[in-house]
Amino acid sequence: MAGDVIGVGMIGLGTVGSGVAELLRDQGDLYAQRTGKRIELRRVLVRDVEKAKASGLVDPAIVTDDQEQIISAKDIDVVIEVAGGVEPIDSLMQFALEHGKHVVTANKSLLAAKGPELFAVARDHGVSIAFEASCGGGIPCVTAMTTGLMANRIDALFGILNGTCNYILTEMTGSGKTYAQALAEAQEAGFAEADPALDVSGQDAAQKLAILASLAFGVRITGDDVHAIGVDGLDLEDITLGDEMGYDIKLLAIAERWPGSKWVNIGVQPCFIKKDELLAQVAGPYNALSVHGHAAGHTLYYGQGAGQLPTASAVVSDLLGIVSGSASAAFSNMRLTPDLTQPAHILDRRDTESAYYLRMQTLDVPGVMAEVTSILGDKGISLSQVLQHESKAGEVVSLVVTTHLTRLGDVEDAAEEIAGLEPIQGEPVIIRVIEMPA
Ligand code: NDP
Ligand code: HSE
Repeated sequence: MAGDVIGVGMIGLGTVGSGVAELLRDQGDLYAQRTGKRIELRRVLVRDVEKAKASGLVDPAIVTDDQEQIISAKDIDVVIEVAGGVEPIDSLMQFALEHGKHVVTANKSLLAAKGPELFAVARDHGVSIAFEASCGGGIPCVTAMTTGLMANRIDALFGILNGTCNYILTEMTGSGKTYAQALAEAQEAGFAEADPALDVSGQDAAQKLAILASLAFGVRITGDDVHAIGVDGLDLEDITLGDEMGYDIKLLAIAERWPGSKWVNIGVQPCFIKKDELLAQVAGPYNALSVHGHAAGHTLYYGQGAGQLPTASAVVSDLLGIVSGSASAAFSNMRLTPDLTQPAHILDRRDTESAYYLRMQTLDVPGVMAEVTSILGDKGISLSQVLQHESKAGEVVSLVVTTHLTRLGDVEDAAEEIAGLEPIQGEPVIIRVIEMPA
């Protein structure tokens, strides 16, 4: 990048944007020493100009609601996008790239929906897009995938990729808070998306997984390819019963190369994992990504997955990579981004195999267990544990079974049949039980 002073325009001055402004204000000398260039924040685009001016974080004179002052201004070399959402940001990013601006973004919604198109525009105009902050907040997991593990064929990713959900699960299990209390705290702390439904529905983790799995497997995966089940439908009783059986519950984002085939299994859902697994120790807003490479074996990346300074750390590190030229060289020379790869072959989730937990609500009457096990047996589903608490005859009671490795479609079919039995109340709950690879 030519010149000794680099002009930066930023879109957004919320949680992440404020962190970026703080780092650029306080660490200018360090960044100049590391890159040999001075970085100047020259414009900040927001919708509510008065609010941003009153923040005291940036010179009020650089705050604007005129997008042209950033996306086409001659004195802006790099645009940092920390606004969020797909529209109108998609169009703003396209204009900025077409005007020769490099882009740093934290926006996983945008990349999971429009990544291939935007990467192609950047390539056509000789500029780059850096997006470390879009996945895992302050953890450099995109860098791990695109640089550190490049010698590997990646076989599987297991991630805790949403800080809000992990915070909610931690607080519900550890501190006995309600779901609503824990979600409100995550919003207050700035972890949650502007629309927290994206977090709790599993969509946010699905978008991040689409980005990471595209890089890991060298294929094109969009957010819509990732089946997502969130924490919003979880019942506290399952968390308690799982705990009794030796499991913690985590919202896991999982992408696996199906053994011996070109197919990829990808999805986000609450899963039970054994309490002594490393991922079970990840608490609060922390994230972790467990990567299984054919040569490196298992590596694990851990850190704050959301919040002001952790996310700003990833954004500014990307900016420094662009300023120094390293990020731009990697972007243009490596064939990694999904504008250059083919669509993935996504396995039908019903054909995937795992162990499962099934909870049924049943009237405690003679013969019900025999009927349930007979349905499971007919589908070839073998059981590993059974749990039922003492109850009085005729009461409604929770009956839990866990299975050995079995096809999801068979478990779902069995659950449907079980729901039709006379003593069973409602639909059985199905939760995946994870056996982590060695
Ligand atoms: P906030 O809601 O806190 O801030 C958003 C900022 O963007 C506000 O200053 C808002 O301005 C501005 N903005 C929104 N839309 C527009 C627009 N169309 N034009 C101009 N300005 C706009 O969001 P966050 O800082 O939490 O998140 C920003 C991005 O970072 C999102 O993509 C998010 O997914 C991602 N991210 C967030 C993390 C976190 O921990 N919060 C972690 C990792 C990634 P105004 O107030 O005037 O409306
Ligand atoms: N809302 C996101 C989370 C922010 O809770 O993880 C980080 O991407």
